[in-house]
Amino acid sequence: MRTHYCGDLNAEHIGKTVSICGWVDRRRDHGGVIFLDLRDRTGIVQIVSDPVRTPDSYQIAGEMRNEYVVQITGKVTARPTDSLNPKLATGEVEIYAESVVLLNAVHKSLPFLVSDTDDVREELRLKFRYLDIRSDRLQANLRLRAAVVKTMRRYLEDECGFMEVETPMLCRSTPEGARDFLVPSRVNPGQWFALPQSPQLFKQLLMVGGFDRYYQIARCFRDEDLRADRQPEFTQLDMEMSFMSQEEILTLNENLLRQIFREIKGIELPAFPRMTYAEAMDRYGCDRPDTRFGLELVNVSDLFANSGFKVFANSIAQGGIVKALPIPNGDSAISNTRIKPGGDLANLAAQYGAKGLAYIRVREGGIDTIGALKDSLSEAQIATLLERTGAQPGTLILFGAGDKSIVNESLNRVRLALGQELNLIAPNQVNLLWVTDFPMFGWNAGEQRLDAIHHPFTAPNPEDMQSDSEQPFTTETRALAYDIVFNGIEIGGGSLRIYKREVQEKVFAAIGLSPEQAREKFGFLLEAFEYGTPPHGGIAFGLDRLVMLLVGANSIRDVIAFPKTQQARDLLTEAPSSVDDIQLKELYVKSVPPEKSK
Ligand code: AMO
Repeated sequence: MRTHYCGDLNAEHIGKTVSICGWVDRRRDHGGVIFLDLRDRTGIVQIVSDPVRTPDSYQIAGEMRNEYVVQITGKVTARPTDSLNPKLATGEVEIYAESVVLLNAVHKSLPFLVSDTDDVREELRLKFRYLDIRSDRLQANLRLRAAVVKTMRRYLEDECGFMEVETPMLCRSTPEGARDFLVPSRVNPGQWFALPQSPQLFKQLLMVGGFDRYYQIARCFRDEDLRADRQPEFTQLDMEMSFMSQEEILTLNENLLRQIFREIKGIELPAFPRMTYAEAMDRYGCDRPDTRFGLELVNVSDLFANSGFKVFANSIAQGGIVKALPIPNGDSAISNTRIKPGGDLANLAAQYGAKGLAYIRVREGGIDTIGALKDSLSEAQIATLLERTGAQPGTLILFGAGDKSIVNESLNRVRLALGQELNLIAPNQVNLLWVTDFPMFGWNAGEQRLDAIHHPFTAPNPEDMQSDSEQPFTTETRALAYDIVFNGIEIGGGSLRIYKREVQEKVFAAIGLSPEQAREKFGFLLEAFEYGTPPHGGIAFGLDRLVMLLVGANSIRDVIAFPKTQQARDLLTEAPSSVDDIQLKELYVKSVPPEKSK
C-alpha cells in the first residue's frame, strides 16, 4: 500500500511516483486547486490535485475532510519557488495525486482539530486521547520516550552487563509509603494481592539469586494523591547491583544519564555535583534543591538567639530556627504589600505553615524594616547580618522564624517562586545533582516511633549505628541513600541495602514492627538473608519524570500515552467502573461505597 512515509519525502524524490498513506491534516480548496496536507507519524507532505493535471483524483480529493484516512499515489514534484515552505521538512516538494483512495472516513464531527490542540481542554483531549496522540507534540514526546528507553537498554545491557528480569505484578505489598492497589484472589477466598509499588524486594531477591546486575522497565502502582508529576501507575527504570560501593553505583548511573543526554539532546553534561542532605536543607531548605539559581538561605539563628526581637528570640528558645533569604535587587522588585499579612508572598509562606515573613531592606544609608526588629539590632549585629547574607544596598532580606521544617519549607517555596518571577533561571539550563546521606528515619509523632524515610531495606550508615545497643538508631542516623535531582525535581532515588538479618531485624524493631509482625510480613526476606546474600544496592528512576523534563513538558501526563486524570480516572475507557455483582461474589468481595453527601 505504501512506498514511503510522508515526512521522508524531499527533493531527492522529485520525479518518482510514490504511494503514501495517512490522515488528512487539512484540506484547502483554492478555487480549482485542492491541497491536502497528508500526515503520518513522520510528518506532513502536501498533496495537490487539479482538473487539468490530475483529473482522475480531483473530485475525490475535494471530498476529503480532516482526519479522513487515505492512500495517495502520485508523482513527487518540485514546488514552485513562491510556495516553498521552509518550516516543513518536506517543504520543497508536493505530490500530484494520480489517485486518492479513501480508506476510511470520519463519521462524526471532530471534538477538536488534531493540528491545533493547544487551547483544547485537557479533559476533552484525554477523552479522545487517540486523536490527541496524533498531534506532533505527543507523537514527538512518545517517540522521545521510546528513544530514552532504547538508550537505557543499550547502555545497561551492552556497556554494563545488566540483564532485564521481569518481576511479578501480583505480590504481597511492599511498604514504600503509599497505599496499595489491591487485587482479590478468587482461588484464595478473603486474600488479596497488592500491585507492586516498586519491584524493591524482588530485585533484592534477584541479588540473592546471583543475578549481579538487574534492570527492568518496571510499571509501579501507588494509590496516592496525584499531582502534575505523579500518576497512580507510572514507570521506573529499576536497577539493582551486587558487590558495588555507593561511589561505583553513583558513577555508573551518572554515566547512564550522561549517555542519555548525549544521545537524546546532544548535550555533554559535566560531572554531577554532590551535596549532602544536611547541606541541601541548610542552603535551600529542601532535599531536592533547584540549583539553577542562587537565592540561598542563610541560618542566622545565632544572631537572634538573645535579640530583643521577641518573635525571633522566642522561636529559638522553643527549639526553632531563624533563616534569612537574601534577594539581590529585591528592594525595588518586591513591595511591602506583598510581604505583609495578606500579600501573595506572605500567603505562600503561610500555606506551608509560616506565621509571617519579616524583612529588612538594605539601603545605602542603612536598613529599613519594622521598628521592633530595627530597635533590637545593634550596629555590630546589623554588620554581621549583612556580611553573613552577602547583602548589598538594594538587597531585600526575608526572614522565616519558628519550627525548623516549617521555616525550611516555607522559605524554599518563596525562593522557588521568586526564582521564576525574577527570571533567574536561564532557559535550557540543566542541573543534575546527587543528594546523599539522607537521614534513615523521621519521627512519627502520632505513634511515637521512628519511620523509615526511604524504605526499611535501606542500609543505615554504620558510622551512625551503635551496633551493640538494642535501639541503635535515632533521627540523626544517616542512611546510605541517595537521590538524583534534575532542576529541582527528584527523578530517582536509591540506596545500599541491608543484607544481614540482625541489622534488618533492628530496623524493623525501630519502625515499630514486633518480631512476630516482622516475621509475618517479611519472613521470606529475613530467611533469604540467611542463605548467602551479597552486599547490594540499587536505584530507580522515574521514567515519566525524566522524559517530562527532557521534553520540557509541565506534566507527566504529556509523556504517557494513556494517563489518568488528577482524580485517578481514565476518561477514555471510563475506568475505574463498577462491576457486576456476580464478579464481586466470585471474589468474596462486597462493595460498600460511601453514601452520597447531600
Ligand atoms: P522511590 O519511591 O523514590 O524509590 O521512586 C523512585 C522514583 O520514581 C518516581 N516516582 C513517581 N513517578 C510518577 N508517579 C509517581 N506516583 C511516582 N512515585 C515515584 C520518582 C522517584 O524518584 N524502590 C525504590 C528505589 C530503590 O531504592 O532502588 C523506589 O521506588 O522519580
